Amino acid sequence: MTGNGSPWVVVRVAGEALADVTTWPRLVAELLAARERGERTLLVCAPLPGLEVESLLAAVAADGHEPVLRDLADRLQRLGVPLDEPPPAGTQDLLGELGRMLAGAHLLGEAGPRARARLGAMAGALPVPLLVAWLRRMSVEAAAVDPRELLLATNGDEGRHFLAADCGEEAPPELASLLGGLPAVVVTAGGAARDGDGATVLVEGGADRAAACLAAQLSALRCEAWGNTPGLFTCDPQVVPAARLLRSLAYEEAVELLTTGARGFHPRAIGPLRRADIPLRFRDAGAPDVAGTVVSAHGGGATPRVKAVAHRAGVMLLSLETAGMWQRVGFLAEVFARIARHGLSVDLVSTAEANVTVSFDSAPPASAERLQALAAELAPLGRARVLGPCAAVTLVGRQIRSTLHRLGPLLEAFEEQPVHLLTQAATDLNLTFVVDDEQALRLVRELHELLLRRQGEDEVIGPTWEELRGTAKTEEADGEPAPLPWWRRKRAALLELAAEVSPAYVYDRQSLSEAASQLRACAALDRVLYSVKANPNPGVLRVFHDEGLGFECVSPGELAHVFELFPDLAPERVLFTPNFAPRGEYDAAFARGVRVTADNLWQLQRWPETFAGRDLFLRLDPGRGRGHHRHVRTAGTHSKFGIPLAEVAEAAAAVREAGARVVGLHAHAGSGILDPESWREVAARLLEAAERFPDVEVLDLGGGLGVGELPQDRPLDVERLDAALAEIRRAFPRFRLWLEPGRFLVARAGVLLARVTQLKGKGESLYVGVDTGMNSLIRPALYGAYHEIVNLTRLDDAPAQVADVVGPICESGDVLGAERRLPATAEGDVMLIAHAGAYGRAMSSRYNLREPATERLLE
Ligand code: LLP
Repeated sequence: MTGNGSPWVVVRVAGEALADVTTWPRLVAELLAARERGERTLLVCAPLPGLEVESLLAAVAADGHEPVLRDLADRLQRLGVPLDEPPPAGTQDLLGELGRMLAGAHLLGEAGPRARARLGAMAGALPVPLLVAWLRRMSVEAAAVDPRELLLATNGDEGRHFLAADCGEEAPPELASLLGGLPAVVVTAGGAARDGDGATVLVEGGADRAAACLAAQLSALRCEAWGNTPGLFTCDPQVVPAARLLRSLAYEEAVELLTTGARGFHPRAIGPLRRADIPLRFRDAGAPDVAGTVVSAHGGGATPRVKAVAHRAGVMLLSLETAGMWQRVGFLAEVFARIARHGLSVDLVSTAEANVTVSFDSAPPASAERLQALAAELAPLGRARVLGPCAAVTLVGRQIRSTLHRLGPLLEAFEEQPVHLLTQAATDLNLTFVVDDEQALRLVRELHELLLRRQGEDEVIGPTWEELRGTAKTEEADGEPAPLPWWRRKRAALLELAAEVSPAYVYDRQSLSEAASQLRACAALDRVLYSVKANPNPGVLRVFHDEGLGFECVSPGELAHVFELFPDLAPERVLFTPNFAPRGEYDAAFARGVRVTADNLWQLQRWPETFAGRDLFLRLDPGRGRGHHRHVRTAGTHSKFGIPLAEVAEAAAAVREAGARVVGLHAHAGSGILDPESWREVAARLLEAAERFPDVEVLDLGGGLGVGELPQDRPLDVERLDAALAEIRRAFPRFRLWLEPGRFLVARAGVLLARVTQLKGKGESLYVGVDTGMNSLIRPALYGAYHEIVNLTRLDDAPAQVADVVGPICESGDVLGAERRLPATAEGDVMLIAHAGAYGRAMSSRYNLREPATERLLE
């Protein structure tokens, strides 16, 4: 039981959580549990959404105070639904006072700082009497306290308001005595305080800062942040749904994350907690049992590593270029003095011998006009340029410098885009890249993919946002269960097959047909050509042939293979798109009557007889490559494919000269793309180029349709892709649109089955050996590709170990999957490697003179 000497826990409840009445019973359960543990709870309520001072004043300015007040009363009434009675007297009083203040503000057309502060205090306190009444009804003895009684604020030097605890002052003695006489649950509103003169002030950081300061003053056991998230993530889940929950962070890491883009708690509220060494625990009000992020002095684990990729949009930069700054005493001081005069707050700074570039904080707002005025004033000091809006993408973690050597592949992400500013905090907590606004999200996704997505779970990195959301869903029992992969449904047949032959690639006919139908259902597509290179298995090709697809071939071998299988195939259903192929291959392809793609000026200019009188396709380089790995990005100056857009005029001239006709334009940006916008972008480039080729009828936008790798990956939204293509069709009805996917049609339909040969434990590592490796599936070794691996024999056994699944090839890279959570696995078990239908057997070899896995088609 609790008593006067019982420890406090301070719980901040976010406005969105309060506005959802389903949170209330969860709070009750929590308060009762706390009472059992002998803890007292101070609930600090944040203002309800829309009741922040500025939104209230804006609403009053737009509609007058009466509708706003009516709306407020309605909302409270709705919140009071569980009470089943009119709002308690305290609420009526607050509403009355609020009404008078809003009327005053409306009449005056403005509200001064004091009025704003009082207004904020009133609005923030509105739900408090309701909550107290509700708690009492639920047999929780609770009392409401006016926030202004709880917090002592003093006027700081610059007229800003600080809370007592922020200034390092002792807790005001009244606080302990005030709370001493109250029950174990006290409810108050956050955000308001009383200053030294007794006037109400609003605290920057609102309820978060109030909760943190109160926790510090009460030497609380912990502070909890109840809101709509279980905590901080490795990335914004809206941008990367596979973002991972951060289970534990150090205070300084949390501040870094919260100032560089993460939401959930005000960064200024961390300080008081840190100074008083009080842990902060995030709790999802919708699922409070999920273990959320805990921020503490010892959080974040001991290993230096990147923990999150944060981003902020709308960052403005000012770059000052001058040779005059070199070795000139006081130059920067002069620049910063001018910046200060314009009321702007500098965020990041980077300097070179002849350049200084700074970015600005979002508050006070760095508007374009303000920056132009500043640039004009800086003109005597050098060439000043305003850049933006840009976006700052920040890697957050501890001892980032010691991880730099691992960031090599990351820098590839910057290959094709300008970085305006690069800074690394002296505290070693962040590394920030400022890039063009429109590049930011892609960059964030790439960096997250490279650095964080594949990490195993440990004490710092937890489950993904989607996994967590999935749990919440099952609780509510709504939402469709994700469809089971075909290999789960056909497990018995697969095990039977594996008993006969191992290792084996198995392709599921039904899945092949389904993938083909999905693309055939795209109304905007005139033709789908299967890219044979992904999987030339005859059974697979037959399925697609019967589905009416065409074929895209890249070599005489593929052409011969296709025509051998389907001697009656109409040649115009086949497109030949080789790269750096010898001249004779083009002659042979034309002779077969298939459509042929040229992808280099050389061919057109030096081999005019090959193309004379022919209809042909031109492969262009759309300028920007995309895809799951740099090896598969097939555009941009770093790729050997296609005619650069800058050479299109020359190509048109060469084609005319040779007496040929360009009937189709082609481009392929890369492979494993999940963003439907990619094909729209490619189409835009081809449409621009098409102006030079009057005979073009077809735009072939390439393949590259991704399937995602991880089980939680969101698949490519084919309907959105179709919609994007349909827009192009409508705007340019002259052109027919083709796609030539490989992976999308076959990846998911294929699995690799391999049998466990032995296990090995070595230090901390555990190895599960199977009877084939990189000779069958080279993608993990070549691209670091992730393939889900399950123990098919023990499919539903709980994971019992973390192991690397390895093959028998004499290379350390022969790892099919690293750090996989597997059930207790034994010799003879059948392991299934998923999504292996594309570029699996097709890229296999007899390395070490070990035959790669054979193939079977499952009917
Ligand atoms: N069209 C052209 C011109 C291509 O170069 C490719 C693939 C495709 C279509 C089919 O792309 P898909 O839809 O399958 O992404 N071995 C790599 C993939 C290399 C793709 C090469 N070109 C991997 O395993 O990921």
